[in-house]
Amino acid sequence: RERELASLYLANEYASEFFHACLTKTNMGRVAREYLASRGISDDIIRNFKLGFAPPAWDKLVQALTRRGLSEELLLKAGLVLTRPRGDGIYDRFRNRVMFPIRDARGRVVGFGGRVLDDSSPKYLNSPDTLLFNKRHLLYGLDAAIRSIKESGQVIVVEGYMDVITAHRFGFTNVVASLGTAFTPEQAGLLERCSVSQVLFAYDSDAAGQSATFRALATVRERGFNVKVVSIPEGKDPDEFLRRHGPEAFARVVAQAMPFVDYQLQQALESIDYSTLEGKVAVVSKILPVLASVGNAVEVNGHIARLAQKLNIDESAIRTEYAKYIHQY
Ligand code: GTP
Ligand code: MN
Ligand code: MN
Ligand code: MN
Ligand code: MN
Repeated sequence: RERELASLYLANEYASEFFHACLTKTNMGRVAREYLASRGISDDIIRNFKLGFAPPAWDKLVQALTRRGLSEELLLKAGLVLTRPRGDGIYDRFRNRVMFPIRDARGRVVGFGGRVLDDSSPKYLNSPDTLLFNKRHLLYGLDAAIRSIKESGQVIVVEGYMDVITAHRFGFTNVVASLGTAFTPEQAGLLERCSVSQVLFAYDSDAAGQSATFRALATVRERGFNVKVVSIPEGKDPDEFLRRHGPEAFARVVAQAMPFVDYQLQQALESIDYSTLEGKVAVVSKILPVLASVGNAVEVNGHIARLAQKLNIDESAIRTEYAKYIHQY
């Protein structure tokens, strides 16, 4: 078992070396180098994150790694190859993609994400679950971010690879990505082990990102972290925002991160027309479960007062509904 794990780490390490060499040293890698350059990624970043390229061929990785003495069986177990549907033999899982090695907190490569160079789909392809790789248990960039996270006690969680890379490039070194999955309790556990006190979510400002934020907050609050939400303006993600507006603008957006309840309140007020009576009722019922999760009565009172003012209704009405809601659960 121990030896099996060691050989899986080795296979992933060799694969990352192969992809990296394809990107940086071959003619085939040129399209990928140009693609990365067009996204503002320099040679330094390519080296730091050991980005790579899976060539547009069927068995280049198979050839390279079997030549280095790895068995086909091991490549299969590592999720790097697939078996041919007919007949025997194996072929490369990742083809014609920019490769992002995914490391564990200790910096060992455990799997990959691969991005197409155009807008074909699926946009990203990941390693399948293996003995080493399970997206739910990993945060992309954690190995690079861990020192900065421990020093500052603060972490910024984003959705994607490119968000992490661009953030680090601009000096935001406490940034990790949840890899598009809903933020999991296991990922919260990883942060707990870094003695994090404040978690900032900076997900994409599209609908998917917003609903992922909502679900993530519940997961993280259960752990007792101080959670805030960063709103990236103009339907962008942190990568696009940083490249367009620069690090000072991003720092400002981060500084304006809102506490959980305020964020929920703002979301409710933005999505519901509260000029009508029905609207006011809808906002209140949407916010009751959020208030119920606060726990501190003084804080709850403060939120109720502000909400009453905003909706132009009586505080005591919200308080009555709140009491009803609490008794119900
Ligand atoms: P770019 O277009 O390269 O900037 O990607 P992005 O990171 O902005 O992508 P998006 O916001 O759509 O998704 C966020 C993250 O979700 C990605 O970085 C991936 O980790 C993951 N993801 C997105 N699309 C896919 C997909 O088609 N398959 C898988 N497995 N993961 C995906
Ligand atoms: Mn997507
Ligand atoms: Mn998105
Ligand atoms: Mn993006
Ligand atoms: Mn995105």
